[in-house]
Amino acid sequence: MSTMHAINLLKVPSWSSSTVASTTDLTYNPTHPLPVPSPTQLLIRIHATAITPYELSWEYPPSATEPRIPCHDIAGVVVSAPEDSGFQIGDRVFGLLGFYGQGGLAEYTVAEEKYLAKIPEGMGFVEAASLGRAGLTVFEGLRVRNGGVVREGSKVLVLGATGAVGRMGVQCIRHWVGASGKVIAMGGEGTAELKSLGADAVFNYREEPNWVDLVKNLGEVDVIFDCVGKKTLEVAIPLVRNGGKIVTIGSPPPAISGVKGWDEVEKRGDGFFFIVDGDGDLLGEVAGLYEKGVIKASVSNVVEGLSEKGVQEGWALALKGGVKGKPGTTVVKVL
Ligand SMILES: NC(=O)c1ccc[n+]([C@@H]2O[C@H](COP(=O)([O-])OP(=O)(O)OC[C@H]3O[C@@H](n4cnc5c(N)ncnc54)[C@H](OP(=O)(O)O)[C@@H]3O)[C@@H](O)[C@H]2O)c1
Repeated sequence: MSTMHAINLLKVPSWSSSTVASTTDLTYNPTHPLPVPSPTQLLIRIHATAITPYELSWEYPPSATEPRIPCHDIAGVVVSAPEDSGFQIGDRVFGLLGFYGQGGLAEYTVAEEKYLAKIPEGMGFVEAASLGRAGLTVFEGLRVRNGGVVREGSKVLVLGATGAVGRMGVQCIRHWVGASGKVIAMGGEGTAELKSLGADAVFNYREEPNWVDLVKNLGEVDVIFDCVGKKTLEVAIPLVRNGGKIVTIGSPPPAISGVKGWDEVEKRGDGFFFIVDGDGDLLGEVAGLYEKGVIKASVSNVVEGLSEKGVQEGWALALKGGVKGKPGTTVVKVL
């Protein structure tokens, strides 16, 4: 059997156990079985993959393939493709792979075409790997679900605006709401950067514990994009106008984390939680905004190669919020 180099996550949290994984469970494997594409799949040589730090606590169904390869944001080159595929051998592609399938911390992966988009000229593999999850979450939550809740002229509050998804949110929302709309950003470490990304007003939860009152002074908002959840979402609910919308991605979902007031919001059809899906067409739209200069990739740290020590250290740093003063995603440059 052919093999490849990979980093495996040896302890896998699952629905049926209380296992908790840590960075030391990320282990180099020089003989991981080479994936074999099904007739509908492409084989991809991975060039870069982004770390989603909290993946260590994701729970997998007991049937998930082991040993697991983590990291689902990938960028690479097509090695083989089905005959009727829209992609050709040699195409540079990126995508967010299905969470229960194998990930990108390896030399190769397989993917269904629906997860992939071509990497535009001028975008490197490292940047491409950093854009998928954040870009798709923002597009799906704010422009696709419920017919799209952010429009020209909307006044939008982003909670957790300094994170990977939040920063992407601020940039896209600025573009979508236009000059007549407003972007209010509330985050933590790195708020100084948010005005340059397009925010009209910025608050920092660490330095301004009274941020709810400060936002209230700016008047009601049309939409809240919540990337934090729990108490932060709970205290923000009254900031949205009657009939305004709340989109939340913070984990666990508000119903499970017991957010007071959420039941009413959901019953009225004014709020929803969702989990992002890989989607090549939508990723093409994210790439389009990148090409127009509307969004920038923000990479905090690059780990060189599939080294166990490098990946463990990079992952540990990502869990602490990345390189101090340089907000962004940690990407492993596989090739
Ligand atoms: N449902 C989905 O499909 C989906 C998709 C993507 C992400 N997510 C979830 O969304 C959340 C954000 O993801 P991410 O990748 O953007 O995370 P991230 O890069 O780790 O960023 C989190 C950001 O939130 C800030 N923050 C923490 N507590 C806050 C508070 N009380 N008020 C305001 N800001 C606060 C942090 O600032 P400090 O570092 O200063 O604390 C940090 O900048 C995570 O919980 C993730 O699991 C869900």
